[in-house]
Amino acid sequence: MLDLFDIQIKDKRLKSPIALASMAGITHAEYIKQRAKWVGFACMGGYSIDEKTIEASTALIKRGREEFLFSNQEEVLQAIEKEISELRELDVVVCINLRASSPSSLTTAAQRLGTDIVYEIDAHCRQEEMIQAGCGEYLLTHTDVLAQYIAALKAENAIVSVKIRAGVAEDDVKLAQLLWKAGADIIHVDCMDKGATEILKIRNACPLLIIGNNSINSFASAKAMLTNGADLISLARMAQPSVLSELYADLVAYAKEVGWYNVPKQLCRGGDIRALSFCCPPIKPCPLISYLQHLEITPQEFMNMKTAAAGLPLMRGEGTCFGSLVFCCKSSTPCFGRDRALHQISMSKATYMKEKRALAKKLLEMRFA
Ligand SMILES: Cc1cc2nc3c(=O)[nH]c(=O)nc-3n(C[C@H](O)[C@H](O)[C@H](O)COP(=O)(O)O)c2cc1C
Ligand code: SF4
Ligand code: SF4
Repeated sequence: MLDLFDIQIKDKRLKSPIALASMAGITHAEYIKQRAKWVGFACMGGYSIDEKTIEASTALIKRGREEFLFSNQEEVLQAIEKEISELRELDVVVCINLRASSPSSLTTAAQRLGTDIVYEIDAHCRQEEMIQAGCGEYLLTHTDVLAQYIAALKAENAIVSVKIRAGVAEDDVKLAQLLWKAGADIIHVDCMDKGATEILKIRNACPLLIIGNNSINSFASAKAMLTNGADLISLARMAQPSVLSELYADLVAYAKEVGWYNVPKQLCRGGDIRALSFCCPPIKPCPLISYLQHLEITPQEFMNMKTAAAGLPLMRGEGTCFGSLVFCCKSSTPCFGRDRALHQISMSKATYMKEKRALAKKLLEMRFA
């Protein structure tokens, strides 16, 4: 399934766009093993890894919440090490969700646990004790500190994810750009009440790998996030094996049929920036014109980007409106001319969409270079 979804985080390939989101006191190695068949990425923890956050976890337990609790930093890192070693044989990218009260705690963790895992900074927890300890939501309103946390992990060559709750920072788009500029690789977004449109705004603003989260329990809810630009979707409360297996089967069937598992809508139907791969030359009045103005890209620059980015197969397209499949619409838009051109070069619709995905990826690279 590696090629079907074709998802990569740095040097790590993912077999599935489904991720497990962390739940303190619950998501440990055994939990992940029981779900490994269907997921490509799994967040363990969260773990409180220094004195202040361990104190916060102790207070949370007293209030009746579940936590992974250890008496000091050495103990917690030893425990995480053991959990990671249990997952070594699985084809799942392992991520650890960490609560830290200083950059140096993250440095210690990364030096100890190495670069084979992904480090997720918990900027999500809204429990007062964690906020007082300088982690969780505190980081969304103190983004200078968050940038220091990211820098500490990047200095150890770690792959970094930041777990956020949408609608807490002053502006999620600016936050995403800050995370990107600070060196983060992944933004894991709990959309909460904001819904999947928050994902679209972030997709349009940065090249980070996006994990969409909140209330996903079916193909329809997953597709809402994926269509808007999420690369992965994650589940916490509804991550029962029965839900995961059905969701995985549906995603596999969709990816096989369509060829692009997280395909956007066309731009004029509310699609995100990746939808530019379906747009024709900017020669007639349509939403593309104002979109390019908003991106501060001239029509000529857009033409240059499209033609420079397109792979050879899409450059063909005899009999299409613009003589090239580079400018052709999404496969779900009925078009005899395009289908005849595809037939002539023996290209299936799924392969056509894979090429469009590759084109969108290159357009994004150019936009965010
Ligand atoms: C019991 C519980 C514990 C959680 N612990 C953490 C945590 O330690 N770190 C974190 O980033 N998110 C934590 N979360 C948030 C979840 O990862 C997820 O973002 C949230 O539950 C929404 O996703 P869902 O609708 O799939 O459950 C926790 C959620 C629950 C229900
Ligand atoms: S170029 Fe075509 S696909 Fe793009 S916005 Fe205009 S009408 Fe829609
Ligand atoms: S040939 Fe069909 S798919 Fe291609 S641009 Fe024209 S209408 Fe769109």
